[in-house]
Amino acid sequence: MSGPTKPRGFALITGASNGIGLELAHLMAQRGHDLLLVARSADRLATLASGLQLEHGVTVRHLALDLAAPGAAKTLHSYCQSENLPVSILVNNAGYGDYKPVAEADAGVLGDMLQLNVVTLTELSCLFASDFKRQGFGRIGNIGSISAFQPCPGMASYGASKGYVMQFTEALHAELRGSGVTATVINPGFTDTGFNARAEMVGHSITKGAAQAKDVAQVAYEAMMAGQMNRVVGFVNRLWAQSAQFSPSRHMLLWVAQWHLRDRSKSKANSAGW
Ligand SMILES: NC(=O)c1ccc[n+]([C@@H]2O[C@H](COP(=O)([O-])OP(=O)(O)OC[C@H]3O[C@@H](n4cnc5c(N)ncnc54)[C@H](OP(=O)(O)O)[C@@H]3O)[C@@H](O)[C@H]2O)c1
Repeated sequence: MSGPTKPRGFALITGASNGIGLELAHLMAQRGHDLLLVARSADRLATLASGLQLEHGVTVRHLALDLAAPGAAKTLHSYCQSENLPVSILVNNAGYGDYKPVAEADAGVLGDMLQLNVVTLTELSCLFASDFKRQGFGRIGNIGSISAFQPCPGMASYGASKGYVMQFTEALHAELRGSGVTATVINPGFTDTGFNARAEMVGHSITKGAAQAKDVAQVAYEAMMAGQMNRVVGFVNRLWAQSAQFSPSRHMLLWVAQWHLRDRSKSKANSAGW
């Protein structure tokens, strides 16, 4: 009896050196996918790639690249062409948040975040959707967030960037209908990864009960391979996302977010000896 057929082409995963992207790399290597792993940390990627090759017998390539740099999507796409890597799955996972009121934020950090979360994701989706359409098959998985469903005081631009990711991906999904290519937005809630440290949210009450990156990666993979349009990860997050569609609960969610922000400012003031 023959075993399961090997998946076609390479899966390109951005932000594969940590968190959800790292778990996706493990899961997809286990399922027999050849991989192209991208992030900034060259050493972590190299160690991961050789470990996955050894353990699962798949081909794993890696590229250290700052995807927040303007033109990064083109650089990555050209790399795949010049290296003859037949990509058939794109996972736009690299992204980060900044937990600060807009008036206290660093405008440069917000610009960098939007470049990564929005611009590079859009350009990569565009470049690879075109290739996938031509070849008649492919999967695009864009990692959004439940913060896409309502305005997020304290993470205003991050939430808005994920709102963009959701609307963009749903529209792309519709455009690709019937082409053999699908685009899926996966919206996780709080997940225990490096995200919280970068957003300066470690220990914050709203991160309590965070999901495990491995579980999120599993749901993301299944939704993307099944060609779903939008998948919210977790039952409670689905309720949250649905309730945010209604105006009264939207106002209540805004109030809760503002309350959390005040809570944060108070604890900062206390630690400053006020
Ligand atoms: N954790 C959560 O609570 C949560 C909830 C909802 C949605 N998400 C989304 O899930 C995705 C993955 O985040 P995570 O939670 O797994 O965070 P993470 O542990 O911080 O991982 C982020 C990954 O992105 C890479 N990355 C960051 N900046 C980059 C850049 N400029 N260029 C290239 N790669 C870059 C990082 O690698 P290097 O540092 O090596 O570059 C790392 O591999 C993000 O889109 C995030 O918005 C997270």
